[in-house]
Amino acid sequence: MTERPIDPAASADPEARAQWPVRFPTILEGQPALVTGANSGIGRAVALGLAASGADVVVNYVVDPQAADDVAHQVEALGRKAITIKADVSNEEDVQSMFSSAIGRFGTLHIVVNNAGLQRDAPFHDMTLEQWNKVIGVNLTGQFLCAREAIREFKRRGVVKDISAAAGKLVCMSSVHQEIPWAGHANYAASKGGVMQMMRSLAQEVAPLAIRVNGVAPGAIRTPINRPAWETTEAYDSLMTLVPYRRIGEPNDIAQAVAWLVSDAADYVVGTTLFIDGGMMLFPGFASGG
Ligand code: BGC
Repeated sequence: MTERPIDPAASADPEARAQWPVRFPTILEGQPALVTGANSGIGRAVALGLAASGADVVVNYVVDPQAADDVAHQVEALGRKAITIKADVSNEEDVQSMFSSAIGRFGTLHIVVNNAGLQRDAPFHDMTLEQWNKVIGVNLTGQFLCAREAIREFKRRGVVKDISAAAGKLVCMSSVHQEIPWAGHANYAASKGGVMQMMRSLAQEVAPLAIRVNGVAPGAIRTPINRPAWETTEAYDSLMTLVPYRRIGEPNDIAQAVAWLVSDAADYVVGTTLFIDGGMMLFPGFASGG
């Protein structure tokens, strides 16, 4: 059997795989969704994927309102309603006012995707408290604040017959780094490890209310957050030593999984983390060593 070659087109042409046909069954009609950090990268693809699946969408952003407007217009082009809301997820007042505007506009929320996240990388000995706090604030505290508002709304409303078997679905965007240690990124890895245990503890707490909480852990996905890891051929080839499937992930790889995870097709999926990483979690260094 020959090994799958690294796909040079994927590295040379960032758009190539983004053009792959992607199908979203329309299974989320009547289920308004809120996606944090929906103006770029994975969040943007998730917002559009949920819209393509039938959901109206709240597009949260904190910088670049134009990009958020652009996502909202694309949601509308898919025949769904959209609003953009500026809110810093690490700010309690911003989050509470975002949820009350969203619920005011759409009546309720059935789906919340805790996606907003960032990196502030530094060697440990140089890492500032500001870099530490920023990453924990957005990636972990931000997910707590949004999760709390989501759960309050799901609890208040409960199950709506003929809309969904669950009283609400929360997805926490994590990372392979909830498990893989990452030198030079201790704040980020700590935040994602925290997301995992927050997600699991919360899932255990609210499952009896028919609320489903799950995590999604992407590997290397072609987005602005990790541009240096894929934008040159050298970087891309080096990245591929960590990806047995020999291609970078595309935002739609995540969007399609999220659309499934929040649908009733995944109704028995509770408190789990779905890794979407081309095999990055398989210790690829051991394919020929050990
Ligand atoms: C990080 C990316 C990184 C990937 C795999 C993600 O969570 O945000 O920068 O490329 O993990 O290491």
